[in-house]
Amino acid sequence: MTEQLRPDGSLRHLLTLEGLPRPVLERLLERAQGFVRPLGAAAAQSQALAGRTVANLFTEPSTRTRVSFELAAKRLGAQVVNLEVQLSSRVKGESMLDTIYTLEALHVDAFVIRDAEVGVPGLVAANVAPHVAVLSAGEAHLAHPTQGLLDALTIQQKKPRLSGLAVAIVGDLRHSRVARSAWHALRTLGVSDVRLVGPPALQPPDEEFPGGTRYTDLAAGLEAADVIMMLRIQKERMAEADLPEARRYFAAWGLTPERLRLARPDAIVMHPQPMNRGIEIASEVADGPQSVIRDQVRNGVAVRMAVLAEVLAAREGA
Ligand code: CP
Repeated sequence: MTEQLRPDGSLRHLLTLEGLPRPVLERLLERAQGFVRPLGAAAAQSQALAGRTVANLFTEPSTRTRVSFELAAKRLGAQVVNLEVQLSSRVKGESMLDTIYTLEALHVDAFVIRDAEVGVPGLVAANVAPHVAVLSAGEAHLAHPTQGLLDALTIQQKKPRLSGLAVAIVGDLRHSRVARSAWHALRTLGVSDVRLVGPPALQPPDEEFPGGTRYTDLAAGLEAADVIMMLRIQKERMAEADLPEARRYFAAWGLTPERLRLARPDAIVMHPQPMNRGIEIASEVADGPQSVIRDQVRNGVAVRMAVLAEVLAAREGA
């Protein structure tokens, strides 16, 4: 595993939240909160990364993560390259590392990588020059660290005392990198009651999420929860034969207004998106007063600004 921290404790790469010390998470969240502005106000801007270049390399689809990394970099004054991987020389057989070395020669300082294959961000991090940072924007089913941070930030904004919270993560835990990164963030930040709520076929392997309580009954998992994090069925990581039928899934596992009433009256509802309305969540809930789904999106830019500022601006004195 590539070391994510420099000897002085600052972040060099962000590949996973697993194992990152609590002070590092808290520092990133505090820094991110400093970049949050209300909708309607001007977005936070600075020239902290003027002269730096960030390259987005996404081989899986993305709306939120890609756009918010781009906005984050630009709002800090960096230049941004979005490599259209399907139009790049990768399709002519160029390896990922040769692509990286080429972009490094063009003075790219940070790579933001989303890939369906396990190990790609780590491989790149192990091979870049010492001054270059690698940020995972989603690695297979394993990690989506900036999503985990933005989820933690969103919860903290609404429920500042994290330690006493009951957080229900509901749905396709087995294939979800969002759930894994949220899990590591929440556990490191002191949340002890994290509930893994989903049908047996979508529960994660036994050795994962140690200490999490598994629920195969939705009502029991939602009972008195403070936070409900709904997950999408990750069709792209499942065989056709294993896909649950949409209507039956919603009937058994969809978050409806009636089911939401099982949670605490002030519970918040989260979803990383993209969401499938009418499959894992009812529109009345997704758009309802307890939903913080759009706060999550807004916080995504702030978190990515904080991460980019830390990995790139920290290099000044390196
Ligand atoms: N939450 C998330 O990763 O969304 P995108 O796939 O649109 O980036």
